Amino acid sequence: MTSLWDDLKHHQRANAGRRISELFDKSNRAAHFSASNAGMLFDYSKTGIDGRARDLLIRLAEASGVASKREAMFAGARINETEGRAVLHTALRNLSGAVTVDGRDVMPEVRATHARMCAFAEDVRAGRFRGQGGAITDVVNIGIGGSDLGPAMAAIALSPYARGPRAHFVSNVDGAHVHDVLAPLNPETTLIVVASKTFTTIETMTNAETARVWMAKRVKTPAAQFAAVSTAADKTAAFGIDAARVFGFEDWVGGRYSMWGPIGLSLAIAIGQENFDQFLAGGAAMDAHFREAPFAENLPVLLALVGIWHNQICGHATRAVLPYDQRLARLPAYLQQLEMESNGKRVAMDGTDLPYDSGPVVWGEPGTNGQHAFYQLIHQGTRIVPCEFLLAREGHEPDLAHQHLLLMANCLAQSEALMKGRSLDEARAIMARKGLTGDELDRQARHRVFPGNRPSTTLLYPKLTPFVLGQIIALYEHRVFVEGVILGINSYDQWGVELGKELALALQPVLEGRESADTKDGSTRMLVDYLTR
Ligand code: F6P
Repeated sequence: MTSLWDDLKHHQRANAGRRISELFDKSNRAAHFSASNAGMLFDYSKTGIDGRARDLLIRLAEASGVASKREAMFAGARINETEGRAVLHTALRNLSGAVTVDGRDVMPEVRATHARMCAFAEDVRAGRFRGQGGAITDVVNIGIGGSDLGPAMAAIALSPYARGPRAHFVSNVDGAHVHDVLAPLNPETTLIVVASKTFTTIETMTNAETARVWMAKRVKTPAAQFAAVSTAADKTAAFGIDAARVFGFEDWVGGRYSMWGPIGLSLAIAIGQENFDQFLAGGAAMDAHFREAPFAENLPVLLALVGIWHNQICGHATRAVLPYDQRLARLPAYLQQLEMESNGKRVAMDGTDLPYDSGPVVWGEPGTNGQHAFYQLIHQGTRIVPCEFLLAREGHEPDLAHQHLLLMANCLAQSEALMKGRSLDEARAIMARKGLTGDELDRQARHRVFPGNRPSTTLLYPKLTPFVLGQIIALYEHRVFVEGVILGINSYDQWGVELGKELALALQPVLEGRESADTKDGSTRMLVDYLTR
């Protein structure tokens, strides 16, 4: 293992002066450094990975036990060791399967909950479930993190398929969020879905209480217009939500992996069961590909290996996710939780310090907006930011096909520009044609140089349908799994979020003036002082 890491680093350093574009001199690089599955094409030829690097990366994945750990995950083993839990979100989208946890087949319950949740979604859509003022027009999902980002991202992504009540999402404990979402709504025709795996998350419970008060002003029995999604049936009952509208799941579904089950309720209401099931089918198709395809053709494995190459081997600390698909506007935020909460760990599974960097900082915005904002740094900044482009062959607006063409041209142009760049000679020639000469020509030309040789990958898909979105999300989930296995970390706990939560609880009485700030550090005391003046 150590020697594979060393070999990779040595190989990277030995070829540091080589340009990506030179790799294309060998025939058919694009075909050899790309892979496809079920209509998707992943192109990683515009990276510095050559044949030797790929061989070493694949050997690293093999030596790390990706194959056996993958099967252990699918089989329900407790691979989330620090919490003693299985990791089985895949069971939520492969409803015909049989999965045993602790000797019990969990699938009958998964299927029953899926059926109950979809029946409720269809009842809401068809107006069979009604609010005090009639059919439900608006659904407000109150949740945060994994109980918000997935359905919120997907509701935008699949908006062309939304024919049901409008879906809204409240997550932030900032009262501005719940206020602004609820203000334009009619409580008498609104359904509130309180989504919280634990049903203890302070943000969610506070917003749920605010929503209950808001509804009580106009609705006689507000609890009748509440549903809940949680693993904690006792707590949903204590909140007063009828068990008929409570949809459970088990602790083997991690928050950030939970949108496939009842956490997807608000999405299922918006797009209907047929589309929701297509989303699950897309995820299940990617699961099958992940389990069956050889590593060299396996999309999740390849995405992970490109990630390891750029982050741990080349030392690029961040990765930009750039969907040329406006409806994937929330994908980067969704991936921030998926990837950074999963692989932002400094300790290996066995408790020892990680000998390499943890997962990358993930960020991004849809193209072409990003082009007019931060692409300047991506093209000419001193740091290298590996870019991950996503693009559909077809949009949902046939009348605007000319705009989709422009979108495609822009996306392809960016990866080309990042790789090719523009040399000083080329920049000089351009400035000379504009009539510049002498020192001024030299000075101006230098500002117009693009170093190029900047890596990017491109993921193409036919159209952003529910099935394709399912494929994309499962692809990223498995990529995170593979990277986590190679790094030797537990991708399924999130202890790093706990300390801040504890300190926030302790600061509440201080801000209320019930406790003194004396035990706090000087900075915190000063900030408390300012805020409570
Ligand atoms: O604080 C992090 C976290 O635990 C996430 O992992 C989770 O998705 C989110 O909070 C919300 O938790 P819950 O669904 O229990 O409210």
